[in-house]
Amino acid sequence: MSAEPLSRPRILLTRRWTEEVEQYLSGKFEVTFNRDDAPMDAAALRAAMRDYDALCPTVTDRIDESVLSVPGRRVQLIGNFGVGYNHIDIEAARRVGLRVSNTPDVLTDSTAELAILLLLMTTRRAGEGERELRAGRWSGWRPTHMMGQSLEGKALGLIGFGRIAQAAARKAHQAFGMRIAYNSRRRAGAAVEKETGAEFIDSVDELVATCDAVSLHCPGGPATFHLINTERLRLMQRHAVLINTARGPVVDEAALAAALAEKRIAAAGLDVYEDEPRVHPDLIGLENVVLLPHLGSATVETRTAMGMRVAQNLEAFFAGKPLRDPVV
Ligand code: 8YV
Repeated sequence: MSAEPLSRPRILLTRRWTEEVEQYLSGKFEVTFNRDDAPMDAAALRAAMRDYDALCPTVTDRIDESVLSVPGRRVQLIGNFGVGYNHIDIEAARRVGLRVSNTPDVLTDSTAELAILLLLMTTRRAGEGERELRAGRWSGWRPTHMMGQSLEGKALGLIGFGRIAQAAARKAHQAFGMRIAYNSRRRAGAAVEKETGAEFIDSVDELVATCDAVSLHCPGGPATFHLINTERLRLMQRHAVLINTARGPVVDEAALAAALAEKRIAAAGLDVYEDEPRVHPDLIGLENVVLLPHLGSATVETRTAMGMRVAQNLEAFFAGKPLRDPVV
């Protein structure tokens, strides 16, 4: 008599992942894929909480209290695809006894690279130049055409100083000779400060007022909501640029659009928005803003590594071992 095979945990991926990871997961679990890649609504997420052992969401899924505390819940683990988890109500997850994991480390360099890309695009007016050329408005080379600003010797101010900010600091300091300043809740160790050439500035106001470029790397959520507002934009220097690869709500988009339109700051480079995928209409027509569609971690290598990191958390959890990346 052959033993009944043990049933494999049921996993739901809320969006399409890279083929390599989807294939790997299907060898380990009973996986439901989202073949047409449409975002799931709250009703679908609530139903999923009753039907699966683990739910693997992304930043496009709002995992709020109504989803987490659904009666008859079967899900035991939320294996988030992404390092940021402000779309998940972490306190509610804790209350109902759900585990949550994320994917740190593997997207650090990609996201730092994207911050550097936005820094270069804004200071060298790359989007504006490309638009001029494509529109047939380029009249040819001239000494005063579309001059930007050099990075060498300029001060880059980082708000938040976790892994991604530190990687951005290293790249900006070592590759472009920038001076680095940062503000964060906790001061980094002396070794990290030395290696990244970073100076701790105790006040956000002072940091934004004194730096030539300000780049945001703090988590989203109530503590950082509209950290960059009209007052702080007024403190920034007229030639300064603002970069946001963190979370949209850290910046008051309407206030930023006004500051850019009035040229109170030189430019902004944004990868994240207050209400994605909607972008504040006042930003769209401005020449001095670079607008990217949340591409921070969007390389084939990184998206596969993120998926494999979720897989490691799922495997650990269902083997009864500690999560590799526990959030709760
Ligand atoms: C992810 C990100 O691609 O990991 C994060 O926190 O912001 C992005 O780079 C996205 O969040 C996936 O859920």
